[in-house]
Amino acid sequence: MTTSVMERGRLSVEDFISISQLRPEDIGQIYALAERVKASPQDYSRALVGKQTALIFEKPSLRTRVTFEVGMTTLGGHSIFLDHTKPRLGEREPIKDIAKNLERWVDCIVARTFQHEALTQLAEHASIPVINALSDLLHPCQALSDMFTLREKFGSKKKPLLAYVGDGNNVCHSLMLTVAKLGQVLRVATPPGFEPNEEIVREARAVAKTTGGEISHDYDPRKVVRGADAVYTDVWASMGQEYASHMRAQVFSPYRVTEDLMQAAGPDALFMHCLPAHRGQEVVGEVIDSDRSIVYEQAENRLHVQKALLLLLLRESDGS
Ligand code: CP
Ligand code: NVA
Repeated sequence: MTTSVMERGRLSVEDFISISQLRPEDIGQIYALAERVKASPQDYSRALVGKQTALIFEKPSLRTRVTFEVGMTTLGGHSIFLDHTKPRLGEREPIKDIAKNLERWVDCIVARTFQHEALTQLAEHASIPVINALSDLLHPCQALSDMFTLREKFGSKKKPLLAYVGDGNNVCHSLMLTVAKLGQVLRVATPPGFEPNEEIVREARAVAKTTGGEISHDYDPRKVVRGADAVYTDVWASMGQEYASHMRAQVFSPYRVTEDLMQAAGPDALFMHCLPAHRGQEVVGEVIDSDRSIVYEQAENRLHVQKALLLLLLRESDGS
């Protein structure tokens, strides 16, 4: 499906490829429904009876695969996992033909790809909703769930200050876009040469201007974490960049989240990570395994937020 505005359920989009597509009100709808789904999952146990979702993954996954599979099952639907680690999308047959076949059998495509364009092509050619389960550029389901987790921690009134330390990658990009839409503050610190994508920074800043949010970038991790309510980090080498792990480990070592860096944030600052994590690299065990860490709550909320997303994209009306 294309990204043209069409009311399906209560969302203003047909696909979920990027947070850019959502209006702040859409995020509000997703969060309101996610709260209800989380509180009373049994009320939604037959909501997607007869619906099928194809999960196409070119990269490994624990959280995203399990939360989408469990999400579909607990909504009464079904999912089919298609391992596309080999061949990658487009190698055996054109992406257009994959989209045109799948739309005949299933109601939704959830895809994790290397190239972001593989996702946009799927969305362009499929007449069913396409959900981004991570691409080299973006990880919108993650960021959407993470900001839901922060909202649970701080309430919907407070606008927590988030600091992101590490690689200017897919997770960082989607966090910038989500925080901007929500009118909140995100300070990012990366090493020189690993800054977030300029176009996304520009877009996030333009959105932030209209929502009262603030997106900034610096090279000094201590400076960005000062006064932060939560400090977020991600792996230094994302999936597909493993060949550069050694070089990156040297460049990124001043950006490791240590107890000392958390102290610089403040005594109550929370620690966040999308996982998988490498203890001793981007974060020390002392921090990720401490009481400050909310990483498993983030992981749990992937389930509830994605269930809300599936309901809003797949049901004619959310009926609640
Ligand atoms: N955070 C996340 O997307 O985890 P997986 O790669 O295990 O799906
Ligand atoms: N930036 C990481 C996120 C994993 C969930 C990656 O792309 O590998």
